[in-house]
This record gives sequence, C-alpha cells and structure tokens, in this order.
Amino acid sequence: MRKPFVAGNWKMHGSKASIKDLMTGLNAKSGLIGDVTVAICPPAVYLDYTHKCLAGDGIFVGAQNMCQVPGQGAYTGELSASMLKDCGCQYVILGHSERRAIYGETDALIAEKVSVALDSGLTPILCVGETLEEREANQVESVIGRQLDAVLNKVGIDKFSAIVIAYEPVWAIGTGKTASSAQAQEVHAFIRGKLAGLNPAVAEKVIIQYGGSVKPDNAKELFGQPDIDGGLIGGASLNADDFMAICQAAG
Ligand code: G3H
Repeated sequence: MRKPFVAGNWKMHGSKASIKDLMTGLNAKSGLIGDVTVAICPPAVYLDYTHKCLAGDGIFVGAQNMCQVPGQGAYTGELSASMLKDCGCQYVILGHSERRAIYGETDALIAEKVSVALDSGLTPILCVGETLEEREANQVESVIGRQLDAVLNKVGIDKFSAIVIAYEPVWAIGTGKTASSAQAQEVHAFIRGKLAGLNPAVAEKVIIQYGGSVKPDNAKELFGQPDIDGGLIGGASLNADDFMAICQAAG
C-alpha cells in the first residue's frame, strides 16, 4: 500500500509577506491532512524562512532545483544538496519541464542531479512528461521511456524506491487543461509497468504523482486511479484552502 504524496511547487512566486499568510493558512489546517505525505517547495531564497514558518511536523519542505555537483566549490549561483538539507529540505524537484524547456536541462544532467540528491539523502521528485506535439505524434511512451532510462542507467532500478516520479504532461501545466483521469492513468501504468519489468517490488513501492492543472474539483477523480499516488501542484498550491483540499482528496 503506497502512502499518497502531494507536493506544492510554488515556482517563482511569493514574498516573505505572502508566504507568512500562506503558512498561517497551511498550519491552521495541517491537522486535517490525514494519511498523506505533504511537501511545499518554495523559491530557494525562502526555503529557510518557509521551514521556520512551519508549525508542527505534518508538512515537509522541498527545493525546486539543485546543482549536479556534489560538495561545494566555485559554481556561482548554484545551490548544493547539502545547502538544501541545511535549510530544512527533504525533497528536491528535478527535471521539471520548465527547467528542461527554458534552461535547456538534458536527460543526462537531470540524471546526474538525481544521483547526487540520492547520495545526499534528499528525495528527488523526478518530473517526466510529453509536450502536446509529442502526444499528437504518438510519442508519449518513447519520450517518457527515454527520460526514465537516463535516470535508470545512472542510478539503477533499486534506487527508484527512494525516488518520487511526477508525470506532468507539459500541455496540462498551468493551462487549465488537465489530462483526463484515464489519460493520466494510462501513462502512470506505463511508467509502473516499465519499472516492474526491471524490479516488480520496486515498481510496486514507487510513488507516481500526477501534475498539471490539478484543482480541488478534479483531484479526487485523478487520485482515485490505481497508479496515481498524489500530485505535484503548481498554481493551486499558492492558495491554502485549495492546496489543503487537494491534500485531503489524496487521503
Ligand atoms: O510543478 C507543478 C506543475 O508544473 C503543475 O502546475 O498545477 O499550475 O498546472 P499547475
């Protein structure tokens, strides 16, 4: 039995003032979450602040990106895994489609980041997903297979029980166009099936989140699918009531 996991990706939103308000709302409702793992991923400069705003221990903190180099060094502008941990992180989102598309992150780079995160004791939330053009060209499985293979070849299947996968169809991110529960389930089943071909026990354990325009009114249906174990939430995670409603829908 997999414990559902919902994470909020705040992307490049917020200020100390807005985070304080949001955290007041989340703290007030964190006792209602139930048997669901919940994490919030603020912009890096606010990780420490957000972590300090948490009351109680029902919500974890994650980062949105990380440097692929282990340790410290002359890497201007970068943040290491140990720095993220030092600021209270347990999770790190890696390979988000915005990092892939806007900042040119490659499958190989993302695989290196996943490997360093695992070695440092952070849980990577590895994002995979196809663009609309790729979906229309019937390339969903080949694209996601390629994205997964890069990480599988780097860290090996056994490490996947310590990785969270987030399936995020690029065409559904921030567009209001959610994948139907059947479309999402089909891809989640493909991902789990691919891992099962390598190690059935690991495949059974791995948490696979869905991300892309998840809202309180569609969360229950999506999370009710057999291979959807929660969500990676963008826009709706900036509203405490909406995010908590989504977390409760996963329980
Ligand atoms: O990381 C989160 C996803 O990109 C989903 O964003 O819920 O705003 O569509 P969204």
